[in-house]
Amino acid sequence: MKVGVLISGRGSNLQALIDACADADFPAEIVTVISNKPGAGGLELAEAAGIPHQVINHKKFEDRESFDGALDEALRGAGVELICSAGFMRILTDGFVEKWRNKQLNIHPSLLPSFKGLHVHERSIEAGVRISGCTVHFVRAEMDDGPIVAQAAVPVHGDDTASTLAARILVAEHKIYPLALKLVAEGKARVVGEKVIFSGLDEGDDVPILSHPR
Ligand code: GRF
Repeated sequence: MKVGVLISGRGSNLQALIDACADADFPAEIVTVISNKPGAGGLELAEAAGIPHQVINHKKFEDRESFDGALDEALRGAGVELICSAGFMRILTDGFVEKWRNKQLNIHPSLLPSFKGLHVHERSIEAGVRISGCTVHFVRAEMDDGPIVAQAAVPVHGDDTASTLAARILVAEHKIYPLALKLVAEGKARVVGEKVIFSGLDEGDDVPILSHPR
């Protein structure tokens, strides 16, 4: 499956996907990386991996529709079949989201549907939750909403700061994003009635819910 990765920043999830795709048996290939921000660190990771990459700077567009139109064109031009948003910090128009319905994944650093949006770790600590984690889900028009493919649970420690919690969750993100992509690319994870159902799992497939103890 041909994958386009959307980024806005450092790209550590992109790197996890690049590493997974490097395995000849992995059922997906990253054909393009697009950043809405010039200078995003992830662009260098794409360059180092020899993956075509480009900046589509949202600031150069008059409105969201024209930015999304350019994004759509670039993705289709690259032959993308599935989008993986990985730290992509732009809200997409409903029209774009509908065009890519069930063909766009996102990763979010909380156990959705809790703590959608920004400042997730601060809010998780403030709320006093004992367990947080991360979620890979299909994208819907509402931010951080949509059928869940994979989640990992991560403990919240009493002395955690937003950054120590973020770092612990990031380790789990790097495990579940490739896992979720694999299951979707193989057609083993499909949206049925706004939930993801699994079929044809082999013994070697990881379970889609991963408990991450560190
Ligand atoms: C990750 O925590 C991701 O869940 C969130 O933004 C962060 C991106 O990190 N949406 P990176 O650019 O993949 O390193």
